[in-house]
Amino acid sequence: MPPSPPVRFTTQRLLLRRYRPSDAQNFLLMLRENQAHLRDFLPAVLENVTTEEGLRAVFRWEARQWKRGELFIYGLWEKTGGAYVGEVYLANPDWSVPCIEVGYFTTERQGGKGYAVEAARAAIRLAFECLGVRRVELQAAADNEKSARVALRCGFTLEGRLRERAHKKNGPPVDRLWFGLLRAEWEALQEK
Ligand SMILES: CC(C)(COP(=O)(O)OP(=O)(O)OC[C@H]1O[C@@H](n2cnc3c(N)ncnc32)[C@H](O)[C@@H]1OP(=O)(O)O)[C@@H](O)C(=O)NCCC(=O)NCCS
Repeated sequence: MPPSPPVRFTTQRLLLRRYRPSDAQNFLLMLRENQAHLRDFLPAVLENVTTEEGLRAVFRWEARQWKRGELFIYGLWEKTGGAYVGEVYLANPDWSVPCIEVGYFTTERQGGKGYAVEAARAAIRLAFECLGVRRVELQAAADNEKSARVALRCGFTLEGRLRERAHKKNGPPVDRLWFGLLRAEWEALQEK
């Protein structure tokens, strides 16, 4: 049976839940407002998904991936006021290890508030406690200093640098950084 993490839960300041068809309109507006900010992170969605129906098809695909235990994407909203914040996901599991990757974005407007760290920590907890993984991985383009700061704040260790492994839209290739967090390291952080 594929694992089934909760489809909705909260942290100190955030509501994390699966997308619904009714989110399509606001998500599309968010994409339009954040084109430059998300250009390197969501290039395919920005290029190919331009209608609400297109987005609903993406949400349906995500729901199928969820059922298969391949991808768990949570939208993020402020608990107070309900403003959209961004997204956190667990992806690319290797159940033979077992391990899984965490990723995230915030909208430009919601940056600099610690929401990415709060959401990433929640997803990491889910990965260890609910999915039972041994390690969580995180990758970021080497020039994405903000993402590297999020990784280090969550307790990740930089494990490797893959040269010219990140594809940038209309730009030169850049290196990709791989971070890892082991269960024992995460448990030690909970005791502090
Ligand atoms: C990567 C990304 C999520 C980082 O966003 P961010 O706003 O820097 O990260 P956080 O939401 O965790 O906020 C951290 C900042 O909030 C500040 N902050 C303000 N209030 C805070 C609070 N109450 N609690 C914690 N931190 C707070 C922190 O000091 C920190 O600032 P600093 O890094 O300048 O010291 C964002 O830049 C983004 O979405 N980029 C595009 C997509 C992307 O690159 N995703 C990652 C791909 S690997």
